[in-house]
Amino acid sequence: MGKLWSACFYLIICLPLLSACDDSSEPKPDVLETISKSEYAVASAHPLATQAGIKILQEGGNAFDAAVAVTATLAVVEPYASGIGGGGFWLLHFADEDYDIMVDGREVAPFAATRDMYIDAQGNPTKNSVTGPLAAGIPGTPAAITHIAENYGRLPLSQSLAPAIELARDGFLLTEFYAKRAKVVVERLQQFPETMKIFMPNGEVPQAGFKLVQSDLAQVLEQIAADGFDGFYRGDVAQKLVSSVQQAGGIWQLEDLDDYQVIERKPIKGNYKNLEIVSATLPSSGGIVMMQVLNMLSQFDLPAMNEAQRKHVIVEAMRRAYYDRARYLGDKDFVNVQVDELLSMSHAEKHWADFSAQHATRSEDYLENVLDDKPKVNEQAQNTTHFSILDQDGNQVAATLSINYYFGSGFVAKGTGVLLNNEMDDFSIQPGHANLWGLVGSEANAIEPGKRMLSSMSPTFLSDGQRIAILGTPGGSRIISMVLLSALAFSEGASAEQMVNLPRYHHQFLPDEIQYESGALQADTIATLQSMGHVLNDLERSYGNMHVIVWDLKTKQVTAASDLRAIGTAQVETSQ
Ligand code: DON
Repeated sequence: MGKLWSACFYLIICLPLLSACDDSSEPKPDVLETISKSEYAVASAHPLATQAGIKILQEGGNAFDAAVAVTATLAVVEPYASGIGGGGFWLLHFADEDYDIMVDGREVAPFAATRDMYIDAQGNPTKNSVTGPLAAGIPGTPAAITHIAENYGRLPLSQSLAPAIELARDGFLLTEFYAKRAKVVVERLQQFPETMKIFMPNGEVPQAGFKLVQSDLAQVLEQIAADGFDGFYRGDVAQKLVSSVQQAGGIWQLEDLDDYQVIERKPIKGNYKNLEIVSATLPSSGGIVMMQVLNMLSQFDLPAMNEAQRKHVIVEAMRRAYYDRARYLGDKDFVNVQVDELLSMSHAEKHWADFSAQHATRSEDYLENVLDDKPKVNEQAQNTTHFSILDQDGNQVAATLSINYYFGSGFVAKGTGVLLNNEMDDFSIQPGHANLWGLVGSEANAIEPGKRMLSSMSPTFLSDGQRIAILGTPGGSRIISMVLLSALAFSEGASAEQMVNLPRYHHQFLPDEIQYESGALQADTIATLQSMGHVLNDLERSYGNMHVIVWDLKTKQVTAASDLRAIGTAQVETSQ
């Protein structure tokens, strides 16, 4: 192993590799040469949202206007996945300046939140981090879309929000996909009459073909179109949100909304072999964990390995990076996170010191301040959403948005139609307690007023020198491993379609097991991994909902693909 590491360090010194958080302000000539391109694309989790994005691009909007339209439309047509009562991360690439930023519209803990607010008198976690208004962080999505429209868009909000307003006001036809997701949480939704009135008007899960009308939500969106930030965070809508939350036992106050701030952050940037990676930074763990895994893997020639060996090293790298996630990561505006250190090759080397090519490492041997209360594998699939956009000028957006679980907290603030998130559960509500995604955490991700909860959402841009990829997916803790596996595939030449349809497997340190989609691992690979001491968990279903756009700078061809596991669509158009 020593030799491999020396080779690796040689490469680092001799090649401009691994520059976490570099600014790379020099425009890449090959990108500039192709700026006068003619194809553009949108890929999202719902056909109506993809259509809305394309429409806005055809009306003269840029990728950022289209991102506003797609975000708002998904909020209307996928109430089980995202919404203006939630938050997310929008990764933006400005083609003119060859520059990237991450718009952080993550929810924040209300000012009245306390570290132990979800622990009962006996010291046990309650369900309040999951169900009802106490589970909701202060939403960031309305602030993010107004910020993006006002600073980077070309069109007025009234135009980019028009498709969403129309679909909320006039209704749209539900599919079986909606019904399946509503069924999972029907008991939670039944606790809240305002939610039932809108999402289950006849007291039961609506069938495919039912027209869902959301008049209150249409009005709130109109208010945002008219007044921007103030339309949601101040005035009439804010009053309704706060009084409804408080009446139901929640702790939101007007100052929480008034004070909400979008933050523009420098994304995580790094290199792996032929790849340049731009991905989400804290409060998302995505870019850091993915780069850590890639750093550990950079010593191997993965394509030359057999399946079992390849999976063994990838899983061992995931185990170690997810350990760091649990141990060290949290909102860096509140806690000190040594990001540069975590992303350094010397840190990767330390992690790899106990790696064995023959045996699985035991996560237990890593336990220090991260306790295990036997994290369970939770149902996680297509709650949360992702979309990718490439416009006529080469501007790019990758955005992953969430209200956390299906239909969030289940609570709709009266008279607003706004379904509130249950993102507070992404905090480490008690050190060692596993959240909905089986993730444990430490003090770094403990609740504090105004703090952002740690996320796994990982909107990402990749470049292999010739091609650019814009990608992301929902999937809770598995988001990072899904994006990682697709990044590895892209570096080996995979197309957009191959990236979204790749069989998926995952390890997140705890529980100490390889989780995989049915059929993702061959029988002989499973047998070899088991003989090495890995615990295998066939999830007996698929997970994730990835959307990818690939732009080939040489051929100038744009291709796009939406995950076959769900109902999204990818559309590529040519400018006239
Ligand atoms: O921010 C996070 O990491 C989670 N709230 C995302 C949840 C999610 O992706 C659920 N999807 N299946």
